Amino acid sequence: MDDHQMNRREFMGASTAALGAASKINLLSPRPLQAAPRGVPAGDKVRFASIGTGVEGCTIMKAALRCPGTEIVAACDLYDGRLTAAREYAGKPIFTTKDYRAILDRNDVDAVLIATPDHWHARITQDACAAGKDVYCEKPMSHTVEEAFAMVDAMQNHKRIVQVGSQCRSSIVYAKAREIFASGALGQVTAVEACLDRNDASGAWVYPIPPDASEQTIDWNQFLGDAPKRSYDPVRFFRWRCFRDYGEGLPGDLYVHMLTGIHYVAGITAPPLRAASMGGIFRWTENREAPDLIWTLFEYPNFRLSLRCNLNNESPAVSRYFGTKGTMEIKNDVLTVTPQDTAPKPEGYSIQGWPLKLRTEYLQEWRKDHPEPLPGQYTLIPSAESFEAPPHYDYQIDHMNNFMESVRTRQPSVEDAIYGKNTAIAAHMANYSYFNKCLAMWNEGERKIQTA
Ligand SMILES: NC(=O)c1ccc[n+]([C@@H]2O[C@H](COP(=O)([O-])OP(=O)(O)OC[C@H]3O[C@@H](n4cnc5c(N)ncnc54)[C@H](O)[C@@H]3O)[C@@H](O)[C@H]2O)c1
Repeated sequence: MDDHQMNRREFMGASTAALGAASKINLLSPRPLQAAPRGVPAGDKVRFASIGTGVEGCTIMKAALRCPGTEIVAACDLYDGRLTAAREYAGKPIFTTKDYRAILDRNDVDAVLIATPDHWHARITQDACAAGKDVYCEKPMSHTVEEAFAMVDAMQNHKRIVQVGSQCRSSIVYAKAREIFASGALGQVTAVEACLDRNDASGAWVYPIPPDASEQTIDWNQFLGDAPKRSYDPVRFFRWRCFRDYGEGLPGDLYVHMLTGIHYVAGITAPPLRAASMGGIFRWTENREAPDLIWTLFEYPNFRLSLRCNLNNESPAVSRYFGTKGTMEIKNDVLTVTPQDTAPKPEGYSIQGWPLKLRTEYLQEWRKDHPEPLPGQYTLIPSAESFEAPPHYDYQIDHMNNFMESVRTRQPSVEDAIYGKNTAIAAHMANYSYFNKCLAMWNEGERKIQTA
């Protein structure tokens, strides 16, 4: 079908747009026809475009293509090599461009998948919402607190589906953990900890520069966007995570995954109250502003959370919830709940300093209140229980499928911009504390992070 033919979904979009566009849509650059809320009729394919087709952009493109009822129609990237990669993964001819606005102008795009560096997430999300596109935006949702709120506004004002790309929100393992947490089986959970560590150059984002990278093959000025102007630097282009102008370092890259899981499991719907970080650049010392080790203690109303990312030692990704009745651990795709031994026991420690007579009387009294069970009265003591995702399970596909379902049904996404804002703000707080060497406090009333 070419752009001049109008099918059922475009007819719906156009007629709704005609009613609403004049009064309520304040467009940036894209055309008004696309600006009204509309869905993809049941049975129609969700036609999507990828914006940013680097490592993650290609990963989520492939995930989207594995979801039922989807079709890729276009891709945008700033580097020729990645446009070639996008065409290869698409497996069919698609429209490609270095200007994402050309994607938003297209009538045949229902949704965009944004996997650019962090400093472009907000701008493209806002423009895409204004253009009537639904948005899957990679984590961390925002580069600043202000951007996070602007993205929520864009989602709400333009009535778009916005889903953030921290895939553990759709994981069956985390869903089970949430169920266990909510059941009270862990008792009162006052402490949570998680870490995600790596020990190689790739983990530290010291990626190789492709040999054909140059100002001829890369649109450097577009990469910079609103970041400070500087001359072409392939290190900044390909290792952008190391620089604060474009990325959020370890908190944005890895904390957000852990935070997304913990917010989901523990039912957290707001940023933490306070954050205190320490860390440093210990080993990956060249061309880097972001620490290669960071440790943060977060204050949430009902528990305290310790997060760590270390790029100088490999260990399994793990999160642990410490409750008065049990400990829950998620290590990679395995969830284990280990009950605490809460059976009544006589005091053994402090009575060691009592005289024999008092010790004996105490223990006799205790036994009177806690008689040994009679034969036939014994009950089982619960022990550790484990749950594991089946082989080949990929929560990335479930997460993308949830997005596609929201696009069709117009039901809110499982990880919408409000959810993404809360975890992104936690990451921003961790960075604020690290770089300002202070305790970071979240001021909800004024929507800002401040020094405690
Ligand atoms: N959910 C996950 O598990 C996961 C994993 C990796 C990365 N990510 C996130 O995905 C995003 C991208 O990370 P990556 O590792 O793929 O980075 P990358 O450097 O491999 O790819 C980013 C691509 O964006 C392109 N780009 C930059 N500005 C653009 C613009 N204005 N318009 C169009 N394209 C633009 C670049 O040319 C580059 O090819 C980041 O936000 C990152 O945090 C998420």
